[in-house]
Amino acid sequence: MTAKIISGTEIAKQIRQELKQQIADLKQKHNLVPGLATVLVGEDPASQVYVGQKEKTSLELGLYSERHDLPASTSQEDLLKMVHRLNNDPKIHGILVQLPLPKHLNETEVLYDINPRKDVDGFHPVNLGKLMIGEPDYLPCTPHGIQQLLVRSGVQTDGAEVVVVGRSNIVGKPIANILLQKKPGANATVTVCHTGTRDISAHTRRADILIVAAGRPKAITADMVREGVVVIDVGVNRIGKTAEGKAILAGDVDFDGVKEKASAITPVPGGVGPMTITMLMLNTVKAARLAAGLE
Ligand SMILES: NC(=O)c1ccc[n+]([C@@H]2O[C@H](COP(=O)([O-])OP(=O)(O)OC[C@H]3O[C@@H](n4cnc5c(N)ncnc54)[C@H](OP(=O)(O)O)[C@@H]3O)[C@@H](O)[C@H]2O)c1
Repeated sequence: MTAKIISGTEIAKQIRQELKQQIADLKQKHNLVPGLATVLVGEDPASQVYVGQKEKTSLELGLYSERHDLPASTSQEDLLKMVHRLNNDPKIHGILVQLPLPKHLNETEVLYDINPRKDVDGFHPVNLGKLMIGEPDYLPCTPHGIQQLLVRSGVQTDGAEVVVVGRSNIVGKPIANILLQKKPGANATVTVCHTGTRDISAHTRRADILIVAAGRPKAITADMVREGVVVIDVGVNRIGKTAEGKAILAGDVDFDGVKEKASAITPVPGGVGPMTITMLMLNTVKAARLAAGLE
């Protein structure tokens, strides 16, 4: 069996088209322009690229976008002041503080201070708690993107055995919680594996849907999966450089081996990656609708 490729690039494009229409409608019918503020502290090159992409996508879709670049030496107090100012700015519906922050700053305190209604990353404990009890306002972007990849590719989650490899707060734990809810596009039986799991293959070989967010190239090889599995590879690993100095990326799954057994698989790049920013835009639109009392 050679797997069907689940293209995050294509599915993200579809969702962006839908969002563009919704944003135009909000402007026309309600004179409402969803606003996203990004805050970047320091000059980490990867973070600069991510923030740049978020800003570019916001503008393409017709959102109002504000970017705040702060020096690496910014104090905790000044960063919190910025967050509080954005919390109180009615033009801004979503706030994204780019992580990781420089070492001297307390990330947890900053994330807790974002108004949960503006927490479009979905990392605030209020939003993670609401997700857990099945009443989310915002789903964290990468896990939400994974769910959309499954739903929009026609993958049946209802009753499926889902195995998640990785238990981070930003991917593993939230995707496990999303897929076990008694809801459409979910209702799965979910197992979560991590470095303390005794026999990972015993779990991964049972999976109808395998979601891998381990941050290790080739953490999953063909002998660890069963025929017909659907594989979502979240990993982004820089495994070298091209002659031109561009990073060569690989996922956490041995793509060439596993695609011969899987029924469907996401590539890296072009799988989960493009979905993450798209879901941030979706959350920002939702935040504006919530603020305007439209939901
Ligand atoms: N495409 C995107 O938009 C996107 C977004 C977020 C993350 N990512 C990528 O996804 C990957 C995971 O990110 P993350 O933030 O979730 O990772 P993380 O915080 O580093 O967590 C990795 C998790 O995987 C587990 N793990 C590591 N190696 C393992 C192995 N060999 N077998 C089983 N479990 C293993 C760890 O277990 P312990 O808990 O026991 O240590 C941990 O729970 C990274 O490559 C990251 O770059 C991509």
